[in-house]
Amino acid sequence: MSRFQRTLVTAALPYANGPIHLGHLAGVYVPADIYVRYLRARGQSVLFICGSDEHGVPITLAAEKEGISPKELVDRNYVGIRDSLRDLGISFDNFSQTSRPIHTQTSQEFFLDLHASGNLRQGTSQQFYSESAGRFLPDRYVEGTCPHCDHESARGDQCERCGTQIEAETLIKPRSVVDDSAVTLKDSTHWFLPMGDMQPWLEQWINSKTDWRENVTNYCRGWFRQGLGDRAVTRDLDWGVPVPLENHEGKVLYVWFDAPIGYVSATKEWANDRDDPEAWRTWWQDDSTRLLHFLGKDNIVFHALLFPAMLNAHSESYIVPDNIPANEFLNLEGDKLSTSRNYAVWLPDYLESFAPDSLRYCLARNLPESRDTNFTWADFQARHNNELADILGNFINRTLTFVEKYFDGRVPEMGELLDVDRQALAHLDTSIGQVERLMESFEIRAAAEALLLVTKEANRYFDEVQPWATRKSDLARCGTSLYVCCQFVRAFAGIWAIILPESMEKLWDALNIPGNLESEGWPSKERRLPAGHPVGKPEILFQKIEDETIAAQVERLRAATQ
Ligand code: MF3
Ligand code: ZN
Repeated sequence: MSRFQRTLVTAALPYANGPIHLGHLAGVYVPADIYVRYLRARGQSVLFICGSDEHGVPITLAAEKEGISPKELVDRNYVGIRDSLRDLGISFDNFSQTSRPIHTQTSQEFFLDLHASGNLRQGTSQQFYSESAGRFLPDRYVEGTCPHCDHESARGDQCERCGTQIEAETLIKPRSVVDDSAVTLKDSTHWFLPMGDMQPWLEQWINSKTDWRENVTNYCRGWFRQGLGDRAVTRDLDWGVPVPLENHEGKVLYVWFDAPIGYVSATKEWANDRDDPEAWRTWWQDDSTRLLHFLGKDNIVFHALLFPAMLNAHSESYIVPDNIPANEFLNLEGDKLSTSRNYAVWLPDYLESFAPDSLRYCLARNLPESRDTNFTWADFQARHNNELADILGNFINRTLTFVEKYFDGRVPEMGELLDVDRQALAHLDTSIGQVERLMESFEIRAAAEALLLVTKEANRYFDEVQPWATRKSDLARCGTSLYVCCQFVRAFAGIWAIILPESMEKLWDALNIPGNLESEGWPSKERRLPAGHPVGKPEILFQKIEDETIAAQVERLRAATQ
């Protein structure tokens, strides 16, 4: 028996500097949502937390480019991100923002706690300083000549021409991108988290994890071999959470320090919204809670090392993650996604043309769980047409059509079960058990495949028992076959709902089953449809997607990068 009584699931907070694209969805939000829906369907207590990540230099740069304040920029992008994820059926219990006061408070409290217990160290680092602006400038606000290739507009931290990382002090003739004036290097005082001191604890903790994905533990081992060092957790910037100490004007918390605390502040906000302000503690400070972080591989170091180190160092007893199901990357038509080249499929654009469930399914079948995978529009069309429409949609439709036409729209009597019927029902039970095992071990892609296979099996059964023939020769036999098919349809509504919530909600309504699909839909032997139960028929759940529609998407992608 597990010691856990509830599960807190987090999905990496998306940066509020642009819309969501397929890479984010496959790496984080779709697998997290399918997993959460699975837990809810099994009747477990679960809280699903997210929000937008609104600090950091890319945000201030984007705001400056548009001539608006960072707050205006993030508030606008927040709404777009929140609504598009909601429209895809991503079912967060709270989706907050890191620019809200509750987050400022929570992050400052966290910083002060670590500071008070001696878990932060002061040190200095050299940073670009602009005399004309009277302030420090982040590396990305500085340009100069590349010491490697003489490129004249290399960025303070990297040269875009030769790709080399640049150490600040080697950049030639550095100048501010804001007003072109010369900048100099100046000592700046910062606070550091001594990750080196925390390495023994982290190492022993990670080593105790036998059920984590190999990619995650391998990354961690690599960093341990290099040895962890001090990590600066403050920055000289004016956009961010102010460092809550005297004489620290112009200094804010490093965005990777405050962002994961966003999970905590979003939980506090959720508790406040429910008028139960202390309820967040059950989710963060009670070790019968299981904490899971869903994220892409570029986030592993922050969630497997930095944030656990922070949680562990806090004087209150925060829990640390029980698992971190991190994903590799999704490519697009064989190439790397690139937001700077606009080579991406953006979620709001997708939703203008297609139903949410089609993408959820296609991504579920292509999740980059153990290696990078590839999205193509041709595969999307094939999965929708040949699998959702021709296999799942067809089975539901042919079963319910027969019941409507020949059995007055009521589940027929079970009658005498033959071997073929018993085998079909046993296959269904086995498959449900298999999906459960796969979901418990975060093999969501394999679970989606298992779902398709059992649906194929249902169609195969239908073909084998030929209700269109027995209808004339042996109506009772026909009824028994359709009784079995109705049990498949009932079970599909419950299990497919974790991937296809919108379509299965329609089916659930048509099936007239009392209760809530999300929390009571998971099938079991006790949850069969009784004979005589009236069932309706939903509208066609999956309309075929035409070739022209797909061609237009391919063209759109090509045109966007021109
Ligand atoms: N915004 C980051 C990214 O998109 C993820 C932040 S996750 C958090 O890569 F935990 F730090 F919030
Ligand atoms: Zn260069």
